[in-house]
Amino acid sequence: DAADAEKGGFDHFMLKEIYEQPKALRDTMTSRLYEDKEEIILDKIKLGKAELDKINRIYIIACGTAYHAGLVGKHCIEKYARIPVETDIASEFRYRNPIIDESTLLIVISQSGETADTLAAMRLAKNKGARVMAITNVVGSSVSREAEDVLYTWAGPEIAVASTKAYTTQLACMYMIALHLGLLKGNIDKEFFSKIRDSLMSSINTVQQVIDKEGMIKEFAYRNFNVRDVFFLGRGLDYYVGLEGSLKMKEISYIHSEAYPAGELKHGPIALIEEGTIVIALCTQEGLTEKMMSNIREVKARGAYILSIAKEGNKSVAKESDEIFYIPDVEDDIAAIPTVIYLQLLAYYLSVARGCDVDKPRNLAKSVTVE
Ligand code: G6P
Repeated sequence: DAADAEKGGFDHFMLKEIYEQPKALRDTMTSRLYEDKEEIILDKIKLGKAELDKINRIYIIACGTAYHAGLVGKHCIEKYARIPVETDIASEFRYRNPIIDESTLLIVISQSGETADTLAAMRLAKNKGARVMAITNVVGSSVSREAEDVLYTWAGPEIAVASTKAYTTQLACMYMIALHLGLLKGNIDKEFFSKIRDSLMSSINTVQQVIDKEGMIKEFAYRNFNVRDVFFLGRGLDYYVGLEGSLKMKEISYIHSEAYPAGELKHGPIALIEEGTIVIALCTQEGLTEKMMSNIREVKARGAYILSIAKEGNKSVAKESDEIFYIPDVEDDIAAIPTVIYLQLLAYYLSVARGCDVDKPRNLAKSVTVE
């Protein structure tokens, strides 16, 4: 029928959209990033050096998956531009009397551009004098009309309720904004810039390389679909990606999952680790690998089954784990992109194996336009 035709030969929109990510990333970076340019062309964005010098605080506001992209944005903007950034959930931000004035920059992220809480938070900040930049996937959406600056994710229409290509293109926008602000602030040099830029541009290929390992992920999912609890552990950016992986898993496979910063393990969640609990240990951040390995040993000693994700060739993590999925060797900051592809495919195949309605999970809506 017509719906099948739209799925272009895929069983579900979600899988189609996972496969569209290399193209979505390319479209989102084209005309903004160039192999031989030490600058980023952010469309018609008016926020230049003079405007940025007036900014002393940045909020990144969003809901759901977009919020998870915002967490990665916080990490990179603070690192590259050295401006304090707080990422908050729109429905929390708007009710807590946040400190906002003319020296505040508010970045809203919304795939649909119509989420009620996100819009309300944006209007609140605008009324208090903040400068607003929007990242959205829908041209002409409410957030795009009301923001001073707009950066579009060129992901194309996203039909599946569980967001995939919107997230990775939001990440790409976060990286580009962080690099741009870092340059404007004079905080990063050309060498650093080129290193991150090249790694970001190569994510078009690294995403494809992970998609090509689909069979392995499917096999893992079909072997483990009866699991009751899954824990995602990571530090730094890996924790943020874990939050997104855990959200995907809950949303479409209805498996109970939690993402925890690995260092917090002993402050609670370790009490829940039992024989057979699956722990997905995200170990892509080089400086944090040693710490992650000791966390892996802690949960393993309590019976957990460890699936790690690490960079190609990381033998020391492999030794501590029951199974390992490798991502290509990318810069630590960019590792979120290939890593999340594994987690999307894992959630997808767990959902299929459990016979769930992948594209229309129970109780969820694609766009939440009520408060
Ligand atoms: C809903 C969707 C999520 C999405 C969130 C925010 O919960 O199911 O996939 O991340 O809304 O949506 P937005 O359109 O503002 O990004």
